[in-house]
Amino acid sequence: MSNIHQVEGISLRLATPDVSEGEWIGQGEVLQQLLACWLVVDPRDLPLTPRLLGTPGIGKTTLAIAGARRRQQELYIYQCTADTRPEDLLITPVLAESGKIAYHASQMVTAMIRGGICILDEGNRMNEKSWASLAPLLDHRRYVESIVAGITIHAHPDFRCAVTMNDDESTFEIPDYILSRLQPTLTLGHPSRQDELAILKYHLPFADQQMLSLTVDFLQESHDLKLDFSTRDGINLLRFALKRIAQNPDHPIARDDVWREALLRCLGEDAADLESLAQRKHQSLGGNAVPMGLGDFFFSPGDPLHPDIDLEDDDEFDDSDDDDEDDDDDEPDGDDPDFGDSPKGSGSSGDVPF
Ligand SMILES: Nc1ncnc2c1ncn2[C@@H]1O[C@H](COP(=O)(O)OP(=O)(O)O)[C@@H](O)[C@H]1O
Ligand SMILES: [Mg+2]
Repeated sequence: MSNIHQVEGISLRLATPDVSEGEWIGQGEVLQQLLACWLVVDPRDLPLTPRLLGTPGIGKTTLAIAGARRRQQELYIYQCTADTRPEDLLITPVLAESGKIAYHASQMVTAMIRGGICILDEGNRMNEKSWASLAPLLDHRRYVESIVAGITIHAHPDFRCAVTMNDDESTFEIPDYILSRLQPTLTLGHPSRQDELAILKYHLPFADQQMLSLTVDFLQESHDLKLDFSTRDGINLLRFALKRIAQNPDHPIARDDVWREALLRCLGEDAADLESLAQRKHQSLGGNAVPMGLGDFFFSPGDPLHPDIDLEDDDEFDDSDDDDEDDDDDEPDGDDPDFGDSPKGSGSSGDVPF
C-alpha cells in the first residue's frame, strides 16, 4: 500500500494500521451490538458511531479491536488526550528533509481515506475544540475540514468509527451536540466468572490452576462489591506473581504468599480487604443516604438541637448541603454533582455521567 495519498492537490502521508490481536471472549451480545452499529442496511442508510463505556481495564479497546477484526477492515487507533488539538486529530504539518512542509494524516483521516475503522480511544479526555472539528464527520456529512492543509476530506463509504470512554471523573464535559452524534451507548459490564477465567487463561496460558483461581476469586468478589478492580488488574497481578515464582526455582516460596505480594504491589493495601474498601466507598458516595452537614458532627440525628431537624422528612439532601456551604463559604455552588456519582456504572444507556 502506498502511504502517500493526494487530496485536492495536497500530498498526505498516511498513518500505519494497528495490527494488534483482538480476541474477544464471552459477552457476545455487546460485540453484536457494536457490529450492528457498523452495518449499512440500505443504500440510504448510514453507519452509527457508538460510545463504548465502562471502567478502565474492563475491555473497551479490546472490544472495538475485536469488532474491526470481525469486519476484516484496516484498523486505526487514535489515543485521545487532554491536549489533543484539532490538527493532531486531522492533519499535522511537518518540516520535511527537503525543507518543505509535509502533511501527515492522523489515524482518523487515514481510516477515512482507506475505508478503515478508527477507534477514538479514551475520547472523554479530549477537549471541546477537538471534538468540534469532528462534528461534520459524525453526522450525514461524513467529512472533515483541515484548516492547516486547506482541504476537505470525505470519508470512504466503508469508514467506520467508535469511541471508547471511561466513566471516571477525569473527563472533560463533552458537549451535547457531540454526544448526540455518538450513539448508541454500549455499556460494558464485568465478565462472569467463567468468562473471566477464560480471559486470564487466554492471556496467560502458562499460569497454573491455583494462581488462576486466586485471581478470579479476587476479581469476582471485587465485581460483586461494585469495586473498580478490572480484568486488566487481574492480568497484571497474575503476571507479576508468575514472574516472582519463576525467579526463585531453587527456593520455592509459598505460592499464596507470592500472589498476595503481587496483589499489594499492583493494587495497593486497599485491595487486601475488599469488604472494608467497599464499605468506605459506599459511605463516601453517600450510599447510606445521610449526607453529612456541619450539624451532623455536633448533634446526633434525632437531637432536637440539630439545625436540620425540621428538614429531615423533606428534601434534606439539597437543603442541608446549602446550609453547609453558608457555614464554610469556601466551596462554590454546584457541589451536588459530586453526589451524582451514583449513576456511575448503572448501565443506563441514555444518561452518561460526564
Ligand atoms: N472479553 C475480553 N476478551 C479478551 N480479553 C479481554 C476481555 N476483556 C478484557 N480483556 C483484556 O483485559 C485487558 C484490558 O482491556 P482493555 O480493552 O485494554 O480495557 P479498557 O480499554 O476498557 O481500559 C486487556 O489485556 C484485554 O485483552
Ligand atoms: Mg482502553
